[in-house]
Amino acid sequence: MTAGRTRIGIIGAGPAGLMLAHLLHQNGIESVVVEARSREYVENRIRAGILEYEVAELMRSTGLGARMDSVGSRHDGTNFLVNGQLHHIDFHELTGKHVMLYSQHEVVRDLIASLLEAGVEILFEATEVAVHDFATDKPYVTYVRGGAAGRLDCEIIAGCDGFHGTCRQSFPAGLIVEYDREYPFGWLGILAEAPPSKDELIYANHKNGFALLSMRSPTISRLYLQSAPDEPLENWPDDRIWEELAVRLAHDGFSLNTGKIFQKGVTAMRSYVAEPMQTGRLLLAGDAAHIVPPTGAKGLNSAIADVAIMARAIEAFCLRHDAEPLNHYTETCLRRIWQIERFSWWMTSMMHKFDNHGPFDARMQTAELDYILNSSAGQVTLAENYVGLPLH
Ligand code: FAD
Ligand code: PHB
Repeated sequence: MTAGRTRIGIIGAGPAGLMLAHLLHQNGIESVVVEARSREYVENRIRAGILEYEVAELMRSTGLGARMDSVGSRHDGTNFLVNGQLHHIDFHELTGKHVMLYSQHEVVRDLIASLLEAGVEILFEATEVAVHDFATDKPYVTYVRGGAAGRLDCEIIAGCDGFHGTCRQSFPAGLIVEYDREYPFGWLGILAEAPPSKDELIYANHKNGFALLSMRSPTISRLYLQSAPDEPLENWPDDRIWEELAVRLAHDGFSLNTGKIFQKGVTAMRSYVAEPMQTGRLLLAGDAAHIVPPTGAKGLNSAIADVAIMARAIEAFCLRHDAEPLNHYTETCLRRIWQIERFSWWMTSMMHKFDNHGPFDARMQTAELDYILNSSAGQVTLAENYVGLPLH
């Protein structure tokens, strides 16, 4: 048995767990991260791409801005394509803020490099991870690594292990109330060796279904098509994907750059919140506690927002013996989370094709888009939510 001790045991080396370890380290609080997968796996997991204004600022103010500002790109606005008409939403003009396009796996790489350099331990490839005694002030984590059993004693356990992780499942039976909405569609996403066809994103509402044009670099496009939630990839040979993207994204003066597709996958869409986010000394953050459909680009951002709140609460507890913020962690997070859930649900409802919609619902969607995109109040609402609500 390998036995270790730290102040904060963090389960999961996704953006939530790694950023928490980073913020704690900045305040001199020791933590250890326990991760099921290998370093290579988590550093290459392709997911989100947009960082809210304050999340990008947090990266900069804590010493993680350099690569983001050189490899990533600043987006001062975004585009909505409705009925073949392009509407530009100017974030900078409407809110004074912008977002950064910088891949989640790059954020993860930056965090891992910085943590390892600082001497923070990340236990990759830990299996059979379990959390214990969090109803007491002596919680601990057990795991198996390289065939040997391990135990990590700590003061607080942070459950940052994603939607399918073990921490939420370890809450006492009956404590959690779940709020859940599954959408009747998914996103078929591709990465392609094609220069982006536009300098900013295009969110398209089309009668065939939603499409999104995004990008990863000056040579790599990231594109999505609304599909069935369990769409078999065999239904979508590359030619069909490019044809359908060209149809859904078509507008005056636009031509779609195509290229070799090197990654293809389908993501089902759901909204989900688990309340409460804490029991005793076990606190959840990120996807472990809540999920949003990706239409508002909020998944990664809300995971970072949670751990910014959690880090402050842990600092008060560990450095000033003040348990108050820790005791109110759930309610502090949830107020912001429900705003994010609302925005993501609203964007999803407004931009997708719903097969169960009758003619009245379809007209309501059109009227809503018309108002949001053409009134200054509507545009401000969209822009201020997209660039991100304050982190606290
Ligand atoms: P995760 O990133 O899920 O990290 C959890 C970590 O815990 C993982 O490294 C996992 O391996 C580890 N883990 C799990 N179980 C255990 C265990 N028992 N023991 C130890 N470790 C464990 N959001 C967007 O905004 N835009 C997008 O385009 C987008 N695309 C997505 C595509 C996919 C396929 C998925 C799954 C999500 C996508 N998201 C997107 C959501 C966004 O990526 C997540 O919200 C974000 O990763 C949440 O970060 P997290 O740290 O909370 O969880
Ligand atoms: C992405 O680039 O992957 C992306 C961007 C915006 C979204 C969702 C995904 O809303």
